[in-house]
Amino acid sequence: MSVIVIIGSQFGDEGKGKVIDYLSQNADFVVRFHGGNNAGHTVVNRRGKFKLHHIPSGICHPQTKLVIANGVVIDPFILFEEIENLKKQGISLRNRLIISSRCHLIFPYHKQLEAIYESVKKGKNTPQPTGRGINPVHADKVSYLGIRLADLFHPKIFREKLKINLQIKNILIKAFTGKNLSFEEIFRPYLKIAEKLKPFVRETSIILQKALEEKKNILFEGAQGTFLDIDWGIYPYVTASSVVAGSINAGSGIPVKKINKIIGVVKSYTTHVGFRPFPSKMPAKITDFIREKGGEYGTTTGRSRQCGWLDLELVKSAVKISGINELFLTKIDTLTGLKKILVCKEYQYHKKKSSYFHLSTDSLWQVKPVYEEFNAWSEDISICRKYRHLPLNAKKYIERIEQLVKVPIKYISVGPQRKATIKR
Ligand code: IMP
Repeated sequence: MSVIVIIGSQFGDEGKGKVIDYLSQNADFVVRFHGGNNAGHTVVNRRGKFKLHHIPSGICHPQTKLVIANGVVIDPFILFEEIENLKKQGISLRNRLIISSRCHLIFPYHKQLEAIYESVKKGKNTPQPTGRGINPVHADKVSYLGIRLADLFHPKIFREKLKINLQIKNILIKAFTGKNLSFEEIFRPYLKIAEKLKPFVRETSIILQKALEEKKNILFEGAQGTFLDIDWGIYPYVTASSVVAGSINAGSGIPVKKINKIIGVVKSYTTHVGFRPFPSKMPAKITDFIREKGGEYGTTTGRSRQCGWLDLELVKSAVKISGINELFLTKIDTLTGLKKILVCKEYQYHKKKSSYFHLSTDSLWQVKPVYEEFNAWSEDISICRKYRHLPLNAKKYIERIEQLVKVPIKYISVGPQRKATIKR
């Protein structure tokens, strides 16, 4: 039996879709436990290219059950569309996909509220959310106003809850847009979509606890990344959920002490979307090179990602927060062709060494990265399948990262396909 958790060690977009596709070959269950359709995970293998937002990335292993656990917030229309699209691509999720009835649902008013908040904050350097209504749905969850998937199977309860929500939200929505949201235009379509999702809906915690008893292999698929975490990220440039390893407990009902291994996914450089302090930002010319070569455009929004050198102060902090025991280094092939590669090994604040944990969001704007410089390589490493096949300079880069972070790099991804992976 193994219980493995995959955590993004940066700002999301570390390549977790590929990592999950690769690591779930022997998994009985792949479990999403937080976030929502703000996530965008890409899986590329012999069966094609799949872009996933809600559905766990273990889709291509027919024996693997896919669990959307209670910690995930769901846009039921997007989820159903994803199920249908996968069917068209030859992947049936019947008897494989299991959705928790406890998941909170995204409604049109969440997306509208998010847009209203953004319109008011405009020009004030905001986190620039993905537009999926993620923060308002979480706000409703903790305001005891949330509507869960289970509610849709009780029209009377759903009617009451929706009425209360619209009564409150329409005041703001009318004030900003001049129009109310209509109860009927939400109520009926949500009842209908619930019927379509019903065959997949179960109490997922019971299934996962039984899987533990039966010593099954369970892979927890983290979304986003440590520095988007609501508590440990660079607040307020964060997402609305807890994304660190400990959140598997709240998000799935599985005890933290059952975890055997926590794998941190680290991209060989740093990227993020939106506005936030970015100490290891690359010069524009190198950003253009990396963005084009690495396809650094958001899977969910298509926005171009900002690029920076690998920031090990962040990775070391992610290791401490989640207790990461192994690293999966991704997209090292993107660095091929550069002359020099830099790695930020620590931060200086007012000329003194300082750690991420000591620094406020404001002080992170003033931090100076301390870089170590590496010679790059020009050989095509995307064809390498063994560690010994990598050029010496690539090996030096990898081994020095391990030394600085003090965690072994067990896997190296040299291309988007599943097979483009080196296991050490
Ligand atoms: P939200 O999660 O839509 O509220 O967005 C909040 C911040 O997190 C924004 O800067 C988003 O770009 C970022 N974000 C949310 N999910 C992801 C993700 O899966 N990958 C990368 N960035 C994300």
